[in-house]
Amino acid sequence: MDSLLKTRIATPGRMLAIGLVAVLSFSAEAGSRPPGYAVASAHPLATDAGIEILQQGGNAFDAAVAVSAALGVVEPYSSGIGGGGFWLLHRQRDRFETMVDGRETAPQAASREMYQDAQGHAIADLSQNGPIAGGIPGTPAALDHIASTYGKLGLARDLAPAIRLAREGFPLDARFAKFIVMESKRFSPAAQALLLPGGKPLTEGAVLIQPDLAETLQRLADHGRDGFYTGATAQQLVNGVRAGGGIWTLQDLAGYKALERKPIVIHFQNYRIVTVPPPSAGGVGIAEMLDQLTALHWTGANGVHSQQQVIEAMRRAYRDRAAYLGDPDYVEIPLKRLLSPAYGREMAATIQPDHATPSADLPPPGQPKRPAKEGVDTTHYSIIDSDGNRVAATVTVNLVFASGFLAPGTGVFINDEMDDFAASTTDSNAFGLIGSSANAIAPGKRPLSTMTPTFVEGPKGVLVIGTPGGSRILTMVLLGMLDFFRGADVQTIVAAPRYHMQYLPDQVQFEKGAFDADAQAALTRMGYKLDALSSPYGNMQAVLWRPAQNTLDAAADPRAVGTARVVLKKP
Ligand code: DON
Repeated sequence: MDSLLKTRIATPGRMLAIGLVAVLSFSAEAGSRPPGYAVASAHPLATDAGIEILQQGGNAFDAAVAVSAALGVVEPYSSGIGGGGFWLLHRQRDRFETMVDGRETAPQAASREMYQDAQGHAIADLSQNGPIAGGIPGTPAALDHIASTYGKLGLARDLAPAIRLAREGFPLDARFAKFIVMESKRFSPAAQALLLPGGKPLTEGAVLIQPDLAETLQRLADHGRDGFYTGATAQQLVNGVRAGGGIWTLQDLAGYKALERKPIVIHFQNYRIVTVPPPSAGGVGIAEMLDQLTALHWTGANGVHSQQQVIEAMRRAYRDRAAYLGDPDYVEIPLKRLLSPAYGREMAATIQPDHATPSADLPPPGQPKRPAKEGVDTTHYSIIDSDGNRVAATVTVNLVFASGFLAPGTGVFINDEMDDFAASTTDSNAFGLIGSSANAIAPGKRPLSTMTPTFVEGPKGVLVIGTPGGSRILTMVLLGMLDFFRGADVQTIVAAPRYHMQYLPDQVQFEKGAFDADAQAALTRMGYKLDALSSPYGNMQAVLWRPAQNTLDAAADPRAVGTARVVLKKP
């Protein structure tokens, strides 16, 4: 066990220093390993679970399993073992990097038109509410795979903090209580019994005990993936889902596989960016946007003119998302072309300085769609351990409290990730995203995602970054890294006001503070339709290791309730 010299707990708006301040040498040698370990997650109890596992001698991969499982218990509105996600891993020993793809898959009985009405229009209610909206969960398989392949402590020890939180309970914060009220109309009977006992919503401070979920997690801990995808849990899930109108079978569950995929690596200025490949749209989008900015010789130093270039790069990347991206095991994606700098130059050549390009002028033309939804679901965490191993993970059940359906006896909320498919080619999904046949539903296929867990490495250090936020994930991660390139510290990166453009609808959303009055006037003159958001969005969690300074820092987005903790070792 490392002897701890200093523990810092960074919470939104405050930083506590406990213990002695470490005096560390700044030699290059000292810089080759981080001076300690750090976890940033969207919930204090999940961050603590990660730190607990690291203190027990677990590595970043063990901690990732612990944090994922704990988040599923304390933030079931965001993620859980009934959902899926992407885990980006970096092993420092041999600099091996991989993405563990625990994305949900469409059940075998799923079909391209399953959420369409007689006219071929998407019925949002079907792909978003109730167990018919659920893909086969990937998180349990991914956690088992990560613990057994990359961890040191084993799955059972990694899951212990989450099982304890489910069994013993934890007090609800105001945010959780608010989401119960917000979503209660979508809740299935078992969800109501858990969160609205006697018909009354649990309020802030109430202790939520989840014995069924504890039991389900325990089976996973005892038997690995088989403890979820076969046997009693699988039977309960299938019975519950089918009784609620869903289409899962035991074969669907038994056949689920977490996959490993090669990350996308991008070079921008002196930085190396490691990020996620399809079925996430993240890596391709980041690459296209950065390649366009390279072609434009972007420095970020030109105020609103630099922002205009970023907006246009976003527009073109989201056009390609809609046109080309889907599950790479089912569709041909012209990745070589989309990821080539020459393609970035081609796209950038169509950007007019200080002038908006109407989205309708870019092929393929589409119709105006709903604006991006102000999502508060899905969750991200970032970890670096004292060996320099890293994990960036974004995990989800899709919308708040998933499909609203809790499978009786399991404690598991069934995701509504099927809504991330293009249910039709004429309608957008919950995030206003359109899609093509590349993202059409097919049995066994993974829906296209925007989740973008990412590592950035270069002269200003190593950044582990990501956020929830539906279609806006990609643009948040881009803005975070652009701030990093310009020398921002990690607190500034997660807090900075954000803006977003996703091709359709043809408008620029922005948080308060992203554009000052002059910039708003200038953008309007350039032809942009601006949408000033009344509430903030995103929940970014980031860790930053600066080897040259031998510092390790972490920050949780001040927009929500997460915490970041850094534990420094004795030099
Ligand atoms: O995979 C995706 O892209 C979505 N299911 C993520 C949803 C999300 O981030 C909701 N956000 N706040």
